Parts: sequence; C-alpha cells; structure tokens
Amino acid sequence: MKKVALVTGSKGGIGSAISSQLVNDGYRVIATYFTGAYTCAVEWQNEKGFNDEQVRLFELDVTNTDECAERLNQLLEEEGTIDVIVNNAGITRDGVFKKMSASAWFDVIETNLNSLFNVTQPLFAAMCEKGGGRIVNISSVNGLKGQFGQTNYSAAKAGMIGFSKALAAEGARSGVTVNVVAPGYTGTPMVEKMKPEVLDAIKNEIPMKRLAKPEEIAQAVGYLVSDAGAYITGETISVNGGLYMQ
Ligand code: CAA
Repeated sequence: MKKVALVTGSKGGIGSAISSQLVNDGYRVIATYFTGAYTCAVEWQNEKGFNDEQVRLFELDVTNTDECAERLNQLLEEEGTIDVIVNNAGITRDGVFKKMSASAWFDVIETNLNSLFNVTQPLFAAMCEKGGGRIVNISSVNGLKGQFGQTNYSAAKAGMIGFSKALAAEGARSGVTVNVVAPGYTGTPMVEKMKPEVLDAIKNEIPMKRLAKPEEIAQAVGYLVSDAGAYITGETISVNGGLYMQ
C-alpha cells in the first residue's frame, strides 16, 4: 500500500515542488486547496500531469479549526492512514510595524501558525497510535533571523519552530518525527511579487547570489520523510544559500 502524504498549500511555488517530490518518491499526495479554488487546483493537477491516484485534490481552509477537524477526520477514515503531513500553506502581508493593520497581523498568524494546530491536531493521535509518522513544517529564514517589514511573518515562522520542537518531544516515543525546513528566498510567486529593487538588494546579501529553486526545498522535505531521516526530530534544516548561518 502506498504511503499517504498531506501537503497544504500544494499548488504554490514550494508546495507544488514538494508534491512532485513526494509523488516521485511513491507517495499518494493529498493536495489541499483553498475554499472555492477547485478550478485552479484541477488546472494545476493537469499541468503537473498527476492522475487521481497520485494526487487527490482536497478542499481545506487551514484557518478554520472546526472545518479542519471535521474534514481531516473524514479524510483519515477514507484514506485509512496519513503517514506524512507537510504544513506548507503560508502568506505574506509585508509592511513596517508602525503602519501594520490588525488584519495584516492576524491573517498571517492564522494562516502560517494557527494552521499548524488546525491541520496537525486531528491527525497526530492516529499517527502515534500507528507507531510512526512524519511531520514537516515549512518555516523561513526570516523566522530565524527576523526581517525588516515582516514582524507578522517572522513571528509566525519562528512560532512554527517552537511548535515543532515541542511536538517532536511528544511524538518521539511513538516514532513520529517533527521537523522544520527553513527556506531562504526561493524563486516562487511569493518572492517574485516583491519590489524588484528590494529583491535585488536581498539577492545581493545572499552569499550564493541567487534564489533557491523550489526543488531544492522539496528535496530537503523528501529527505526528512525518507527512511534516511528516521532518527532526525525537532530539527530545523536551513536551505538558504548561506543567507543566515546559525
Ligand atoms: N533594514 C533597515 N532599513 C530598511 C530596510 C532594512 N532591511 N529595508 C528598508 N529600510 C528602510 C528604507 O531605507 C526606508 O528608509 P527611509 O524612510 O529613511 O528612506 C524605510 O525603511 C522604508 O522602506 P521602504 O521604502 O521599502 O518602505 P515601504 O513602505 O515602501 O515598503 C516593505 C516596506 C514592504 C516592508 C519593504 O521594505 C519590503 O518589501 N521589504 C522586504 C520584506 C521581505 O523581505 N519580504 C519577503 C517576502 S518573501 C517571503 O517572505 C518568503 C520567505 O520566507 C523568504
């Protein structure tokens, strides 16, 4: 039987590469898409050439606690198992703190951090009972180093790391690993929408002088969920071209 991996935000730049990586590694991927975005999700699936056995599209608002509990319990029943969770869904609402609106703060915390509770909580007990599972949370270099104009995003991404270490401690005895991949600036629509002069200045700060490729982030996820990653837990793997060295 194929292992089943749930990937949130699966048709974004990094999420799409993670989905491809996991499909190529033999997983059945449950690819979540935001409420109402079914047509876009189908287009993505067709573009990628995934069949319905490889990728099941699954509508989920990761900010809605009740919906996640209900839909993910149902998913678990239908699929029989969820072996891997990749919490990847994320947004930016950049702006200097002095001018930041409450909605820019709360939207980012809801989507990037509270989603970890909403998505992981309904599935974690079953993983523990089964005696194994892998959870990978996609944070950011900016959760580690802090970034001008991203108090909301840096707070959420740093919070993901604390969450992962605490849950790693709880899952360890049951063989459930919880890790973080912290990408640097990656060639995705999220980064491409930055002002070109700001992005150029950031690229110039990156020792490798280039953005990450989404596949380079996906490969780190692939490693953590593979047999080779079985003894790694509570860890953060940075993939940032040297932008921040801990
Ligand atoms: N450090 C110190 N000062 C800075 C600064 C920095 N890094 N960046 C800007 N400033 C200063 C500017 O020099 C300017 O100063 P003056 O007023 O004295 O001229 C002042 O701050 C305002 O800067 P902006 O003109 O840029 O202000 P703005 O309101 O037009 O834009 C901003 C603010 C949207 C936050 C913009 O600075 C910005 O986009 N910053 C980059 C944020 C960023 O890195 N986002 C990453 C998005 S991708 C992502 O998040 C994925 C991932 O995980 C990596």
